Amino acid sequence: MFLKVYSITILLLDVLSLVVKVIFAVLESVYQTIAGVAEKSVANEIVLITGTGHGIGKELAHQYASLGAIVVCWDINQEENDKTVHELRKIGAKAYGYKCDVSDRDAVLTLARKVKEEVGEVSILVNNAGIMPCHPLLQHNPQEIRKIYEINVFAHFWMLEAFLPSMIQNNHGHIVALSSMAGVMGIPNLVPYCGSKYAVRGLMESLSEELREDARQIDIKFTTIFPFIVDTGLCKKPRTRFPFLLSFVPAQTAASAIITAQRRNYSEVSIPRGLLYLNNILKLFPLRASQHMKDFFDSGVDSD
Ligand SMILES: NC(=O)c1ccc[n+]([C@@H]2O[C@H](COP(=O)([O-])OP(=O)(O)OC[C@H]3O[C@@H](n4cnc5c(N)ncnc54)[C@H](O)[C@@H]3O)[C@@H](O)[C@H]2O)c1
Repeated sequence: MFLKVYSITILLLDVLSLVVKVIFAVLESVYQTIAGVAEKSVANEIVLITGTGHGIGKELAHQYASLGAIVVCWDINQEENDKTVHELRKIGAKAYGYKCDVSDRDAVLTLARKVKEEVGEVSILVNNAGIMPCHPLLQHNPQEIRKIYEINVFAHFWMLEAFLPSMIQNNHGHIVALSSMAGVMGIPNLVPYCGSKYAVRGLMESLSEELREDARQIDIKFTTIFPFIVDTGLCKKPRTRFPFLLSFVPAQTAASAIITAQRRNYSEVSIPRGLLYLNNILKLFPLRASQHMKDFFDSGVDSD
């Protein structure tokens, strides 16, 4: 009898503590939405960005450099990557360029050791490199599907294998990953790509939870980015019925939004900002209703 009363009391205290914590977390979130969140400094942090030869990665390299970060640029395309590094050095930034196919685990691990020797410990990792072949599923060949997963998904694991241990050891670090709105909603002509971007969302969310539950109290931050369409040429035939609502964002704007999200320790951000909320609202409706709404908005990508 005594044991029963005791365990019910413990349970009631647990529930009470949960309610207080939830209310506090909601109030904190409302306050932060209204008052804004301070942006942490990235000056002198070593930021490694993959896919810096073009598009969002190149812009990220420029903007991180302008904030005083030491920028390490990785890309499979040496010529374009060298151009980025040259531009950065010309404006006095500390920038280092390396050619790397991020889907090649051995190459990633070997190069990571070289970066540690030549530059230092990477404290911000931006897994940005990605590809996006766009056609109906049955027109994708097996090699292409494998390549999408090797670059868009497996590369994240190799980069984490290379850089997460030292972040954990130093109890200091931030992982940023480029998913996509195609990582929260299915989009025609992008079946393998959508799967790969859902995978990025899953790996980021579960890794963040795993470290949150780690008894060592590891303070590594995770930020996952969900762009709609960024005007880099990656998406060959984008389509939007209401450009004023769902516009194609310039790479500069996307990079700036990504850096703000990272500096504010946001865990998930869509570009444009409201899209994740809109998608969550759509998911509350019955499937047919949300399909009608999707048809009305008529936005997506046509086959290459
Ligand atoms: N552009 C968009 O509309 C859009 C939308 C949602 C998500 N994203 C994501 O944002 C990221 C960047 O997209 P982007 O538009 O800047 O692309 P982009 O094609 O303009 O640039 C990608 C860069 O990655 C490099 N790269 C490709 N494969 C590589 C490999 N195996 N190893 C190393 N580097 C490699 C390319 O050489 C290129 O410089 C991608 O992950 C993409 O899926 C883009």
